[in-house]
Amino acid sequence: MKALVIYDSLYGNTEQIAKAISGALGAEAKAVRVGEVKPDELAAYSLIIIGSPTQGGRATPAIKTFLANLPADALKDKRLAAFDTRNKSFLVKMFGWAATRIEAAIKAKGGNTTAQPQGFFVKGTKGPLVDGELERAATWAKAIAAGVPTNLMPGDYEVKKKE
Ligand SMILES: Cc1cc2nc3c(=O)[nH]c(=O)nc-3n(C[C@H](O)[C@H](O)[C@H](O)COP(=O)(O)O)c2cc1C
Repeated sequence: MKALVIYDSLYGNTEQIAKAISGALGAEAKAVRVGEVKPDELAAYSLIIIGSPTQGGRATPAIKTFLANLPADALKDKRLAAFDTRNKSFLVKMFGWAATRIEAAIKAKGGNTTAQPQGFFVKGTKGPLVDGELERAATWAKAIAAGVPTNLMPGDYEVKKKE
């Protein structure tokens, strides 16, 4: 499947998740940092997955700007999904998560997400990723590609509990 994973990453954890996702989607998938992709390149892909570290409950400025500047039809007829990285701190729960807001921005552009937004956990601020998150990212990606529901995955349960 022609799939593009667009990500931002300050410390490298979201980049690792993005690469695990594109790796699970096969040879026709690739992961690119948000600054390296132009909106007109999206036309070549049927599945687009966008991910960001959660910073203050939001996506990074680069991801937010990229989404805000997308032309109205850029996401039309695409399969779309959003993810973030986040930590498990009690204090951060009140701010919300980047993936939920990326999904809202996708919908505001007329795009339809085909999977629930997903969060992957890091230890502290700089990481590393919590054990098993790369594998969970690969499983999530394969579920999206196969068109099977992702809402029963263990990670989604955690997302719902926190929201
Ligand atoms: C300025 C800043 C704000 C952050 N705010 C949140 C937050 O609101 N919620 C959260 O779960 N994690 C928060 N974090 C932790 C990040 O989610 C974590 O650094 C990120 O997942 C690491 O991904 P990266 O290596 O791709 O940058 C914040 C980190 C930074 C640097």
